[in-house]
Amino acid sequence: MKSVDVLVHEHRMIGRMVSILEAIAARLDAGGDVSTRVLVDVMDFSEHFTSNCHHAKEEHHLFPLLAEHGMSLDSSPIAALREQHEANHAYLREMHAALTRLRAGDTQAPQTFAASARDYARLLREHMRIEDHYFQDVSSLLSPAEDDVLYGRMVAIDESCARVGDRRRYERMLEEYEELMATW
Ligand SMILES: [Fe+2]
Ligand SMILES: [Fe+2]
Repeated sequence: MKSVDVLVHEHRMIGRMVSILEAIAARLDAGGDVSTRVLVDVMDFSEHFTSNCHHAKEEHHLFPLLAEHGMSLDSSPIAALREQHEANHAYLREMHAALTRLRAGDTQAPQTFAASARDYARLLREHMRIEDHYFQDVSSLLSPAEDDVLYGRMVAIDESCARVGDRRRYERMLEEYEELMATW
């Protein structure tokens, strides 16, 4: 099913960012320096690509379609996945607030950012592991016509997301920071 493949492919990109966030958290905890530009970029990726674009495809399009096939939004595994999205967004808000304090010179803020980033990374890694299995299981529920419609809706989200930051920019960001982490 091509629409589920889109989501699983995006999990691979998000997983690379999770590894970068874990490296940043370890470096900040050790008292190392991480430039503001790097922190602003990883927040941009996480807030825009992961939350606004990827989670939106699941929340607004895949989950409601699965609900039509009997997967209740409130009691099936979808309910747990939606709760994890909310928890992820709460950790991101903590990271955003810590970054604001860090930029204002708060010396405790790097550790606060690191703690929230580690919680965010741990939860997101587990969330994607569950989704990878669950999406493969439920993809057979969708007819080819439904899959086409879902795929079209995901493309529309990508087009609207590209106005803020296109995917190639995020792919370049992953490559740049993976190279940087290799030097730490
Ligand atoms: Fe998700
Ligand atoms: Fe996902």
